[in-house]
Amino acid sequence: MADLELDRAVEIAPGVYWVGFDGESAGLRCNPYLILDGDEAVFIEPGSVPHFPIVLRKVLSIVDPRRIKTIIVSHQDPDLCAAIPRFEEIIGPDLKIATHSRAAILIQHYGLRSPFYHVDQNGWRLRLKSGRELKFIFAPYLHFPGMFMTYDPVTKVLFSGDLFGAFSYDWSLYAGEYYDEAMKAFHENYMPAREILARAMAKLDGLEISLIAPQHGSIIRDNPRRYIDILRNLDCGDYMLD
Ligand SMILES: [Fe+2]
Ligand SMILES: [Fe+2]
Repeated sequence: MADLELDRAVEIAPGVYWVGFDGESAGLRCNPYLILDGDEAVFIEPGSVPHFPIVLRKVLSIVDPRRIKTIIVSHQDPDLCAAIPRFEEIIGPDLKIATHSRAAILIQHYGLRSPFYHVDQNGWRLRLKSGRELKFIFAPYLHFPGMFMTYDPVTKVLFSGDLFGAFSYDWSLYAGEYYDEAMKAFHENYMPAREILARAMAKLDGLEISLIAPQHGSIIRDNPRRYIDILRNLDCGDYMLD
């Protein structure tokens, strides 16, 4: 995207920032996001230890990290969780880690000191100080039993975790022509079965979605419904073992 300065945080929706980067060696790029809401910030899928310095620089360019009250992680993988202890050192003491209780069991092994906010035990929603609510959409077994997506009803952005991600050496911040095949390749390899994937896609029916913001690959802004339909009909996982 020649028109975008990818060396900076990019505002992808009002008050929603992509704070990732284009790592050329990474076929599996990681996308952390930040939501600003008044004087409060929410940090989504913060990333890995090697990515920490550059993600931190981008976070600092848009917010005082002490304003981050919640880190949301869709599951326990190191590419999105391993930097949490580093961020804890610069974020204030009233930080909480929002995730599924099943993921929390594993995430505690990173040596966190912040308390967990179990999304499955709190009505699948997070209320910010302003009253704004983020909603969590359970997507079990995709690819972790406690996996969930995060939906922001204000901007209509769906933070989809590993869902809608892609494997690709081609990359642009926003999904282009290459993305259909790259997204399929990732799901064929990571997601367990067509029926399980289709069930999660059905939960997105009726949801107004402006952008899909996955943890890997590119942001989907042109016709998100088309990508939902691709995944709804994709053979994956155990079908690939034959
Ligand atoms: Fe993962
Ligand atoms: Fe991932």
